[in-house]
Amino acid sequence: MSEPLLRVENLNTYYGKSHILHDVSFEVGKGELVALLGLNGAGKTTTMRSILGLTRPRSGQVALDGVSVAGSPPHRIARMGVGYVPEGRRMFAGLTVLENLQLAENGRKGDWSIERVLQHLPKLRELSGRKAGRLSGGEQEMLAIGRAIVSNPTLMLIDEASQGLAPLIVQEVYRLIEELKQDGVAILLVEQNALLALKIADRAYVMDEGRIVYHGDAAALLKDRERIADLMGLNAGELAS
Ligand SMILES: Nc1ncnc2c1ncn2[C@@H]1O[C@H](COP(=O)(O)OP(=O)(O)O)[C@@H](O)[C@H]1O
Ligand SMILES: [Mg+2]
Repeated sequence: MSEPLLRVENLNTYYGKSHILHDVSFEVGKGELVALLGLNGAGKTTTMRSILGLTRPRSGQVALDGVSVAGSPPHRIARMGVGYVPEGRRMFAGLTVLENLQLAENGRKGDWSIERVLQHLPKLRELSGRKAGRLSGGEQEMLAIGRAIVSNPTLMLIDEASQGLAPLIVQEVYRLIEELKQDGVAILLVEQNALLALKIADRAYVMDEGRIVYHGDAAALLKDRERIADLMGLNAGELAS
């Protein structure tokens, strides 16, 4: 049995006295696309922050390719090949698109140069001289993903890729995520739109109140419309197909 790329075991994370994550355990295999689903407030972002060392878990293990990293600082975890596309797409608003990409290149050798990212995202090339603060939501999401890619990660954590984007832009962003997967990058994808994520994921985990309450094949979960409706806080009838 080979070691998964990311193994999270019994994470417990607190904000002050509030116990947010309760014994969260899951895995992402090499090259696998795993969806992490759940309602607003379920603990998805906190899980990502705990993996990245941005919020230090009180207990539990995080291992990258068998190497324990729990308690390591974020820059060290990033250097081990973990890319992050944060919720809300934080970037340097006063810098241009190209400058944002240059800052993100941290010397990790790999297939994804700025040039290759721009080949895949022609819109970003057109906008390369524009200040990031003047981009639309969709353009910012592209830049946020582009920034994570140029560091040549083996694992990408993407938090709420589709949030606030027009449907056509969502399609473009998702096409890019699928290309990354085809390239062999493992992806942990957080989405509130469960249907969208399940269509491209291999496996899925569902969180509720800081706990993993379900895991299984994405295809199997995709057939369980009632559970998906539950996940998205909708009636089954409200789910468009
Ligand atoms: N910085 C913080 N301080 C205190 N509580 C927080 C903080 N960030 C998130 N929380 C709480 O932690 C819980 C999980 O939040 P979060 O991980 O952001 O959920 P999700 O990403 O699934 O919406 C929520 O109850 C939220 O209110
Ligand atoms: Mg969140």
